[in-house]
Amino acid sequence: MASSIHISKLHIFVLLVLCSCFLHNTYVANSATSSLDRDKQTLIYIKSQTITQPPDALATWDPNTSPCNWTRVLCAARRDQRVVGLDLSSLRISGPVNPHIGKLSFLRTLQLQENQFQGILPETITDLLRLRVLNISFNNIQGAIPPNISRCIELRVVDFNQNELSGSIPEELTRLVNLQTLNLARNNLSGSIPPSIGNLSSLLTLKLGTNMLSGPIPAEVSRLRNLKNLDLIINNLIGTIPPSVYNMSSLESLAVASNYLSGDIPYNVGDTLPNLLVFNFCINKFTGTIPGSLHNLTNIRLIRMKHNRLHGTVPPGLGNLPELEMYNIGYNYIVSSRGEGLDFLYPLVNSTKLDFLAIDGNGFDGVIPKFIGNLSKTLRMLYMGSNQISGSIPPSIGQLKGLALLNLSFNSISGEIPTEIGQLVGLEELVLGKNKLTSNIPNSLGNLGKLAQIDLSSNELGGSIPTSFKAFEKLTSMDLSMNKLNGSIPIEIFDLPSLTTILNLSSNSLTGSLPQKIGNLERVVTVDLLNNRLSGNIPNSIQSCKSLEHLIISKNSFSGSIPDGLGELNGLTTLDLSSNQLSGSIPLDLEKLNALQFLNLSFNNLEGNVPSNGIFSNLTRVDVEGNPNLCHDSKCKTNGTNKLVMILVATIALVFVIALISIALFYYFRRNVVTPKDTFDSFKGRHYMVTYDELRLATKNFDEDSLIGRGSFGSVYKGCINIEGQAREIAVKVLDMETTGSLPSFLAECAALRHLRHRNLVKLITSCSSLDQRNKEFLALVYEYMKNESLEKWIRKGMRLVDRLNVAIDVACGLSYLHHECVVAPVVHCDLKPSNVLLDEDLTAKLGDFGLASM
Ligand SMILES: *[C@@H]1O[C@H](CO)[C@@H](O)[C@H](O)[C@H]1NC(C)=O
Ligand SMILES: *[C@@H]1O[C@H](CO)[C@@H](O)[C@H](O)[C@H]1NC(C)=O
Ligand SMILES: *[C@@H]1O[C@H](CO)[C@@H](O)[C@H](O)[C@H]1NC(C)=O
Ligand SMILES: *[C@@H]1O[C@H](CO)[C@@H](O)[C@H](O)[C@H]1NC(C)=O
Ligand SMILES: *[C@@H]1O[C@H](CO)[C@@H](O)[C@H](O)[C@H]1NC(C)=O
Ligand SMILES: *[C@@H]1O[C@H](CO)[C@@H](O)[C@H](O)[C@H]1NC(C)=O
Ligand SMILES: *[C@@H]1O[C@H](CO)[C@@H](O)[C@H](O)[C@H]1NC(C)=O
Ligand SMILES: *[C@@H]1O[C@H](CO)[C@@H](O)[C@H](O)[C@H]1NC(C)=O
Ligand SMILES: *[C@@H]1O[C@H](CO)[C@@H](O)[C@H](O)[C@H]1NC(C)=O
Ligand SMILES: *[C@@H]1O[C@H](CO)[C@@H](O)[C@H](O)[C@H]1NC(C)=O
Ligand SMILES: *[C@@H]1O[C@H](CO)[C@@H](O)[C@H](O)[C@H]1NC(C)=O
Ligand SMILES: *[C@@H]1O[C@H](CO)[C@@H](O)[C@H](O)[C@H]1NC(C)=O
Repeated sequence: MASSIHISKLHIFVLLVLCSCFLHNTYVANSATSSLDRDKQTLIYIKSQTITQPPDALATWDPNTSPCNWTRVLCAARRDQRVVGLDLSSLRISGPVNPHIGKLSFLRTLQLQENQFQGILPETITDLLRLRVLNISFNNIQGAIPPNISRCIELRVVDFNQNELSGSIPEELTRLVNLQTLNLARNNLSGSIPPSIGNLSSLLTLKLGTNMLSGPIPAEVSRLRNLKNLDLIINNLIGTIPPSVYNMSSLESLAVASNYLSGDIPYNVGDTLPNLLVFNFCINKFTGTIPGSLHNLTNIRLIRMKHNRLHGTVPPGLGNLPELEMYNIGYNYIVSSRGEGLDFLYPLVNSTKLDFLAIDGNGFDGVIPKFIGNLSKTLRMLYMGSNQISGSIPPSIGQLKGLALLNLSFNSISGEIPTEIGQLVGLEELVLGKNKLTSNIPNSLGNLGKLAQIDLSSNELGGSIPTSFKAFEKLTSMDLSMNKLNGSIPIEIFDLPSLTTILNLSSNSLTGSLPQKIGNLERVVTVDLLNNRLSGNIPNSIQSCKSLEHLIISKNSFSGSIPDGLGELNGLTTLDLSSNQLSGSIPLDLEKLNALQFLNLSFNNLEGNVPSNGIFSNLTRVDVEGNPNLCHDSKCKTNGTNKLVMILVATIALVFVIALISIALFYYFRRNVVTPKDTFDSFKGRHYMVTYDELRLATKNFDEDSLIGRGSFGSVYKGCINIEGQAREIAVKVLDMETTGSLPSFLAECAALRHLRHRNLVKLITSCSSLDQRNKEFLALVYEYMKNESLEKWIRKGMRLVDRLNVAIDVACGLSYLHHECVVAPVVHCDLKPSNVLLDEDLTAKLGDFGLASM
C-alpha cells in the first residue's frame, strides 16, 4: 500500500514536471504561431490573388499546415519560425506585384523573376527591412525605382534586369552599401550614372547595360575596388573612359559596347587589368591601335572591338590565348603588315576554343592562307568580308567542320569555289557574294543540308544552277544574282520547303520557262528574276505564292498574258513585269492589290484600257509606257486632239525655226561671227578614257533616278564624274544592244562627232565600249550635261522672244558650221527637231543626236 502511494506520488511529480514542460511548450508554440500565422495569412491571401501556371503550383499551400512545409517558402531555422524566403519565380504570374508582400517583414529573399508582373513596384517592398536578395528580373515592371529602397540597407542583390523601369537611377540606391550585385540592365532608365555609385564599395557586379543612360562614365566608378563585372553596353554614354577605370585591376569583364565613347584605348590595358576575361569595346568611336597587351592575357575569353576607328596592324602575341572564344576586330581601319597578308592569323591555331573570328570591314590584303583549315574545330563564325583579300579559297577550309557561318563577301577572291566547302555540313550561312569567283558552282554544296542562306551574287560563276540544291531543306534565302549562270532554273528549286525570304536569280543568262511549280513557294517574299532570258508564260500558279511582296521579272522574254492570279497576291508591294513581250489586256484584278506601291508594265505589247482604280488611280506609281496599244481611259478620247495639238505646235515651231534660221544665217554671214573657242578639248589632244565601272558609279548603277530620257536607241542617264580632278555633270547615252539599228546609229554618231567641235553642237566628252558586269557588250556616249534640256520642253513651257531669237541664231550657227566649216566634209544632221536641240545653263542652244547624220 505504502509503496503504491509512493509510486503515485512519484507519478504526480513526473506528471507535474511533464505538465509544466508541456504548458511551457504550448506557450512558446503559441507565440511563434501567432507571428507565423500572420505570415501564413499573408501568403494565403497572396495565393488567393494569384493565378499561376501550372494552376496547382502552390497546391501545398494548405491553410491547415505550417507554411514552413510549403513549397517555395522558406522559414528561419530558429525556433521562432518566420517566413524568410519566398520564391514565386517562373510561374507566369501577371498583373501587379501584390503589395501585401510588404507584410512579410522577416523576408530575406524575394524571388519574383521570370513572370509577367506589370505595373509599378509597390512601395511596400521598401518595408522589407531585412531583405538581402531582391530578384524581379525578366518581368514587365514599369515606373521608377522607388527611392525608399535605400531603407532596405541589408540588400546584397538587386536584380531588376529586363523590365520596363524608367526614370533615372535614384541616388538613394547608392546608399545600399552592402550591395554586391546591382543589375538594372535592359530597362528604359535614362539620365546619367550618379557619381555616388562609387560608394557601393562591396559591389562585385554592376550591370547598367541596355538602357538610355547618357552623359559620361563617372570616374568614381573606379572606387569600386572589388568590382569584377562592369556592363554599360547599349546606352548613350559619351566622352572618354576615365583613366582610373583602366586601373580597376579586379575587373574580369569590362563591357562598354554600343555607346558614343571615344579616345584611345591604352596600349597597356592588358597590363593594368590583368584579370580581364571579357573585353567588349564594340561600336564606339575609340581610336588608337589594337592594345597589344590584351594578347598577353592568357585567360582572356572575349576580345571585341568591332566598329571603332582603330588603325595600325594586329599586334603579335595571338598564340598565347588558349581560352580565347571570340576575336572581333571587324570594321576598323586595320591593315596587314607589309607583305604579310593574313599571316597574323596563324598563331590563332593555338586557340582551340575559338568560336567567333571576325576581321571584316578592314584593309587586310593577301590571300586566305592554307592554315585557315588548322584553326579550331570549334570555330562557328568566320567573317572576312569587305577587305582586299585576293587569290582563291584554299580547299583546306573544308576542315573547319564547326563552321555555321562563312562570310568572304566584298573581296577580290577569284578561282573556283572549292568542292571541299561541301564538307562544312554544319554551315547555315554561306556568303561569297561580290567577289570574282569563276567556273561552275560545285555540286557538293548540295551537302549543306543546314544551309539557311546562300549568297553567291556578283561573281563570275557560270554553268547551270546545280540540281543538288534541292537538298537545302532549311534554305530561307538564295541570291545567285549577277553571275553568268545559264541553262534553265532547276525545277527542284521551287520545291525548297523553307524558302521564305529571297529568291534572287537576277542578271544571269538563265533560259527556259518559269514552271507551274513556282506556286510551291508559298512563303517566299521576294522573287527577282530580272534580266535573264526566261520565256514562256507567267504561270497562273503564281497566285499560290501568298507571301510574295516583290515580284520582279522584267527584262526577260516572257510572253502571253498577265495571269489573273497576280490579283490574288494581296501582299504585293512591287510588281515589275516591264520589258517583256507580254500581250493581252491588264487584268482588272490588279486594282485589288491594296499594298501595291510600284507597278511597272512598261515596254510590253499590252493592249486595251489601263484600269483606273486601285494603284492605277495614282499614275505616278504606275509605268505603262512603251505599250503602243494601251490607252488610258480618259486619254483614249482626247488622244486624237492631243496629237493634233502636238503636230500643230511642232509644225508652227518648225516654220518658226526655219524662218529664224534664214534671218540668222543672213546675220551670221554679215557679221562673220567668230565661234568662241572651245574650252573642253578632251577630244582634241589626249583622249579622256572612261570605264564601265566609272559610268556605273557616276549614274548610281544606272539608277532609275538618274534616267533623263529613253528612246529607241536606249537610255540617257544623268551623272557626275571626275575629270582631271574636276567634278563634271554628264549625260550618258547607253545603247540598247538588243535594239537592231542602234549600233549603226552609234557608229554614225561617233563618226560625226569625232571631228566636230562647235559652241552650238553638244560636246561629246568620250565614249565607252566595254563589257558590263554580266559580260555583255556595253556601248555608251558621254556628253556634257545640258541643264535646260530640250527645246521641245521649252516650246511647251513658253519662252521669251529674245531667248527664242537666240536659240534660232544658235541653231543656225550650229547648222552653218556643219554644212560649211567642217574639217573633213559637210555634215547633214538629218534629224533636226526641237527634241534634238538642247539648251545649256545660260540657254545656249546646241544640236544633239547625230545618230542619223551623214557626211
Ligand atoms: C511537415 O510535413 C511532414 C510530412 O510531410 C510532417 O511530418 C511534419 O510534421 C510537418 N511539419 C510541420 C511543421 O507541419
Ligand atoms: C535572378 O533571376 C534570374 C532568372 O532566374 C537569374 O538568371 C539571376 O541569376 C538571378 N539574379 C541573381 C543576382 O542571382
Ligand atoms: C519614403 O519613406 C519615408 C519615411 O522613411 C516616407 O516619409 C515617405 O513617404 C516614403 N516615400 C514614399 C514614396 O512612400
Ligand atoms: C522609354 O523612355 C522614353 C523616354 O525616356 C520613352 O519615350 C519611351 O517610350 C520608353 N520606352 C519604353 C519601351 O517604355
Ligand atoms: C557618396 O558619394 C558621394 C559622391 O561620390 C559623396 O559626396 C558622399 O559623401 C558619399 N556618401 C557616403 C555615405 O559615403
Ligand atoms: C593607376 O595606378 C597606378 C599604380 O597604382 C598609379 O600610378 C596611377 O596614378 C593610377 N592612375 C589612375 C588614373 O588612377
Ligand atoms: C606582355 O608581357 C610580357 C611579360 O610580362 C611583357 O614583357 C610585354 O611587354 C607584354 N606585352 C605587351 C604588349 O604588353
Ligand atoms: C602555341 O603554343 C605553344 C605552347 O603553348 C607555343 O610554344 C607556340 O609558340 C604557340 N604558337 C604560336 C604560333 O604562337
Ligand atoms: C594543318 O593541319 C594539317 C592536317 O590537318 C597538317 O598536316 C598541317 O601540318 C597543319 N599545318 C600547320 C601549318 O599547322
Ligand atoms: C557578310 O559580310 C558583308 C561584308 O562585311 C556584310 O555586308 C554582310 O552583311 C555580311 N552578311 C552576313 C550574312 O553575315
Ligand atoms: C553554259 O555556259 C557554259 C560555259 O560557262 C557552256 O559550256 C555551256 O554550254 C552553257 N550551257 C548552256 C545550256 O547554254
Ligand atoms: C501618288 O504616289 C506618289 C508616290 O508614291 C505620292 O507621292 C503621291 O502623294 C500620290 N498621290 C496621290 C494622289 O495619292
